[in-house]
Amino acid sequence: MNILVINGPNLNLLGFREPNIYGKNTLNELMSTLEKNVIDLNHNIKIFQSNHEGNLIDIIHDQKDWADGILINPAAFTHYSYAIRDAIQAVKIPTIEVHISDINNRENFRKKSVIREVCIDCVTGLGEQSYNVALEKLIKVRL
Ligand code: DQA
Repeated sequence: MNILVINGPNLNLLGFREPNIYGKNTLNELMSTLEKNVIDLNHNIKIFQSNHEGNLIDIIHDQKDWADGILINPAAFTHYSYAIRDAIQAVKIPTIEVHISDINNRENFRKKSVIREVCIDCVTGLGEQSYNVALEKLIKVRL
């Protein structure tokens, strides 16, 4: 299975950014663990991060013929990007929404996800484990 991992804005600051909410590990550390898990399970992975909405959409478009499944943490775009939602809907690739923090138990504006309906599942609030749990779910869906 070819797994596309997409990280949105400010996630490049993990480790530095609000460690009480997002943990002490950097994005590189999180992605290295995820990559190792994917390779151990004999799957393939491509990992991207961008702070720009259009770049995230371009990645979804550019990788649509490669990816069998997508793990996406759209970060703040989760709450208002209909353009990212439309991109996920357009490519029809099983996609799981991932969040490190528990978006349902923070500020009100974070409770709304505009991409939730076009994703097959959502993993939120498991800290650094969120990506690994989402990976397990994605693989199960494709088996
Ligand atoms: C986040 C939650 C979002 O509300 C926030 O804007 C982020 C990270 C998370 O992983 O917990 O940047 O997606």
